[in-house]
Amino acid sequence: MPEATQVTVMLTADQIQNRVREIAREIERDFPTSEDLHLVCVLKGAFMFLSDLVRALERPVSLDFMAVSSYGKSTTSSGEVRLVKDLDSGLEGRNVVIVEDIVDTGLTLQYLQDILKARSPRKLHTACLLSKPSRRLVDVKVDYIGFTIEDRFVVGYGLDYGEKYRNLREIFVLG
Ligand code: IMP
Ligand code: MG
Repeated sequence: MPEATQVTVMLTADQIQNRVREIAREIERDFPTSEDLHLVCVLKGAFMFLSDLVRALERPVSLDFMAVSSYGKSTTSSGEVRLVKDLDSGLEGRNVVIVEDIVDTGLTLQYLQDILKARSPRKLHTACLLSKPSRRLVDVKVDYIGFTIEDRFVVGYGLDYGEKYRNLREIFVLG
């Protein structure tokens, strides 16, 4: 549990696991087993969501990982995104689902969708565990949203504050 002055559980491990299974069913519905499915995990925040999601999917999948970092303050996005680690393989003609932890202003996701779309995937969908719609600065399409939350800074289940708390099974509100 985070050692902050005020810490509250926002989402329990059970709530997260149940929703991840529902998202897996939605993805299976959109991509029948006759089609390929390639998941792109956005490091580091989405690693836990990705690992639970792939175990919930009852169909073959392939995986790749990329890492981006945004410049600026740690709890707000500056909108300047830098590609830190690129994918190992191309996306041309493939069914791709971006797996991301949270969509806040939408700037990170917009950048990711733009650069991946340019690689000519057959379909490009996006799954985000969390969404803070009140913070949105750009209109990005998210096909699968785990939970819509208020404008609070959250940690746990992959999400960090200063690289801490990523290992927690629950999602907590900090501060
Ligand atoms: P956006 O570009 O503003 O949508 O920011 C998205 C990125 O900011 C996410 O991928 C997270 O890394 C980070 N982020 C936004 N809100 C939170 C939060 O509440 N907790 C932890 N990280 C967050
Ligand atoms: Mg992230």
